[in-house]
Formats: sequence, structure tokens, C-alpha cells
Amino acid sequence: MTREPLGVLGAGWVGLVTAACFADLGYDVVVRDVLPERIEALQAGEVPIYEPGLADLIERSRDRLAFTLEPEEVFSRARIVFVCVGTPPMYSGDADLSAVWSVLDELPMRTDGVTLVMKSTVPVGTGEKVRTELAARGLSGVGYVSNPEFLAEGTAIRNFQQPDRVVIGSFAEEHGDAVAALYVHLNAPIVRTDVASAEMIKYASNAFLATKISFINEIANVCEETGADVSVVSEGMGLDPRIGPSFLRAGLGFGGSCFPKDIAALKQLAGNSGYHFQLLTAVIEVNELQKRRVVGKLVKHLGPLRGKTITLLGLAFKPHTSDMRQASSLVLASRLLSEGAHVRGWDPVAIEEARPLLKGVDLFDDMLEALEGADAAVIVTEWDEVRNFPFDEAGRVMKTAVLVDGRNVLDPDEARRAWYVYEAIGRPGVS
Ligand SMILES: NC(=O)c1ccc[n+]([C@@H]2O[C@H](COP(=O)([O-])OP(=O)(O)OC[C@H]3O[C@@H](n4cnc5c(N)ncnc54)[C@H](O)[C@@H]3O)[C@@H](O)[C@H]2O)c1
Repeated sequence: MTREPLGVLGAGWVGLVTAACFADLGYDVVVRDVLPERIEALQAGEVPIYEPGLADLIERSRDRLAFTLEPEEVFSRARIVFVCVGTPPMYSGDADLSAVWSVLDELPMRTDGVTLVMKSTVPVGTGEKVRTELAARGLSGVGYVSNPEFLAEGTAIRNFQQPDRVVIGSFAEEHGDAVAALYVHLNAPIVRTDVASAEMIKYASNAFLATKISFINEIANVCEETGADVSVVSEGMGLDPRIGPSFLRAGLGFGGSCFPKDIAALKQLAGNSGYHFQLLTAVIEVNELQKRRVVGKLVKHLGPLRGKTITLLGLAFKPHTSDMRQASSLVLASRLLSEGAHVRGWDPVAIEEARPLLKGVDLFDDMLEALEGADAAVIVTEWDEVRNFPFDEAGRVMKTAVLVDGRNVLDPDEARRAWYVYEAIGRPGVS
């Protein structure tokens, strides 16, 4: 079967995963980015981001993938073009859509027959605005489909290949059909809808997951006051199929490139339409305070933190990614620095990404070196190396064996047997 080439705009997490996975399904894919260094790296066979399995997939499909800086190269070859550009938060909390608008600026004048497929997360109403703008530019022949992306970094390839659902919102039935046909071999439920509802499904999904996290974190905080153990509480709750076990793990709160910006954007979107989304306001506030509670736990065992050495274990916003956007380590490091502590950071993959963001923090890619002489360690990101924490070796090199488990990944009894002062989130403290 001959398959028409596809276009992808944006060579970040979403763009590269989309391109590599469609190439793996047998499509020729032309990927365009505006960053010369990114395109040069990809042309030279290097993958500029860390996502498990992505480099292998790109290598395997190398002859079906082309990388370019030129928009014309995409629009002259592909009739279906995925828009995967960033939509970062602005100072106001609204999503910055400038990269989306730049895509429209770069559309060649004769683009009829092309369908833009929006994978970037955009506020409800964006599709309608794009359609109006296309018409104003004499480009009414360009189709528009909202196809929000639900991948999670660290498991992005699997999320693409085995999606829980594919959401397709379109103005015209035939454009939606053309996009749905691309996913037919993935055997996933396809939700066909209008554009605004597709846009809202993405925001509402992220807002709901973030709400679950802040909810269990509040329960954890009450557990600390009342002697209950939140990890058992989560297990007991999660067995109820109406609740479900995922996103019920208490910890330092959420970060990353999506949740913080998407719930802020949804809150602002509601506010701009005259509605005060109180629940989301609380979700955001709980999440902010959650990271800061760690400082209190450290002070409880070490006294004032001035001059103390604290090692952050894990810097990326979650394991199996090099992404540092809105990582909890950023808030925690600056809080600890402002308390006068010496802060060290260890991460197995994100050191280079962390370096410009964690000024004043000593960075290590060897965990034991990072722990040498430390007064305390805080588990920030649950990398496998942290799950298998080397209690004996670490205990020998640390000045005092104080461990704050910000992700509740260690066994408190094991920590106790190894003579650690162990503090977790919402679990009885053990020393
Ligand atoms: N990363 C995730 O886990 C994830 C998951 C679901 C949805 N999303 C959403 O997908 C979108 C992309 O996210 P990401 O993490 O891949 O972002 P990213 O920042 O990693 O990548 C975006 C890329 O787009 C490029 N770009 C900017 N303007 C461009 C243009 N005019 N033409 C071509 N390329 C351009 C940038 O240079 C950058 O390389 C965002 O809206 C995000 O919210 C991300």
C-alpha cells in the first residue's frame, strides 16, 4: 500500500515521537523545526532529547525520515501536517500561542488541500481562531483538525503505539476521516468530536490528573497529623474501580512541561470567560506548598539549614526523561539555597539540562559522590537508581544519615534497619 508522506512541525518530544512512530508504521515523514542545531543534530543521526526507545526507533526508520528547517519542504510533500510546536506558559498563565501563529505565517500561499492537525495543547477556541485567520488570509482550503496528544514523557513511544484513545475534533467530516485513517492500525478507541470539545478533553484530562495528585497530597498531609499511612490509604482507595490506583501516589507534587502550564492555562481560560475555577486554584496552591514542606522536614532533624549540605536525588521532573521544565528540583533547590544550605544535585541523564537552571547547585552524575559528606538527602525523582538506594554505601559516605523520601519509593523498615533517619510524605516517620 502506498502511503502519502506526512509532515510534522516541531522536533520536540511530541513531534519526534509522532514522526518516529508514523515512520515506523511505514509513512515517509518530513520534520521541520526552527532550531538549526536541532535539525543539524537530527540530520547527523543524533537525538536531541532523551526519551527511552526514541533513538532506536529513529535509527530503524532513518530512510523514511527527513529533517529540515524549510517549511516549504513540508508543505510541498505532505497533505497532512501535524503541528507539534511548543505552547509554553506566559507570565499571565495563559498559553503562549506565538509558535502556532508562526506556523500560519509560514504557510505557502498555495496550500489548498493541506490539513493542519493540531497536536500541541491549545486553549479551547484556538481551532476556531485558526480557521478564521486562515479564511482572512485567503486559505479557506486548508483543513484543520484537533488531535490532542496524551503521551507521557518516559513512556511516549508505548503511549503512541498503544493509546488509550485517539481524540479527533474536526470542522469538516472528511478531514477528521483522513486523520482517523492514520490511526486505524493502532486499534484504539477513536473519539470523534467537534474541535472545541477535543481541545477541552485535553485540558480537562490534565486538570483531572493534577487534581488527583493534589488531593492525595492533601490526604498525605492529614495522615502526617493523624498517624495514618498514605501509601496504604492510596492502595485501599485505588482498588475501588470508581477511583482507580493511578495518580494516587503522594509526593512532592507535579511538575513538568504539561501539568503546571495546562492547568494554569485552563484556569486563565475560565477566568477570561468570566468563570472562577476555584478547584483548580486550590490544586495549584496545594502543589506549590507541597514541595516546600520538605524544608520543614529537614529542619526538624537538622535544625537551621544554614551551612548544611543537602543532596537532591533526581533533578528531571520525572524519571526516564531529561526534561527539566517546571521540575520540583528547581523550587526545592532555590528554597534550600535561600535557607543558606549548600545544595548538591544528582541525576543520571539531566545534568546538562539542569546546569543553566540550577545556578549555585553542585551537580554530579555519580550518586555516591553527590552524597559524600552530605547532612541529608532528598529523593526528588524516583529513578531506578534511587528506588534501589544503596543504604550501606551511602550511609558510609554521608555525614548524617538523614533521608527525606519525597516520592515514597523506599521501604521504611529497610531504612530503619540501615540506621537512617527516614522521613517520607504522609507516612509515619522512622528513625
Ligand atoms: N512533552 C509532553 O509530554 C507533551 C505531552 C502532550 C502534549 N504536549 C504538548 O505538545 C506541544 C509540544 O510539546 P513538546 O514537549 O514536544 O515541546 P518542545 O518544546 O519539546 O518542542 C517544540 C518544538 O517546536 C519547535 N518550533 C517552534 N516554532 C516552530 C515552527 N514555527 N515550526 C516548526 N517548529 C517550531 C521548537 O523549536 C521546539 O523544538 C505543547 O503544546 C505541549 O503542551 C506535550
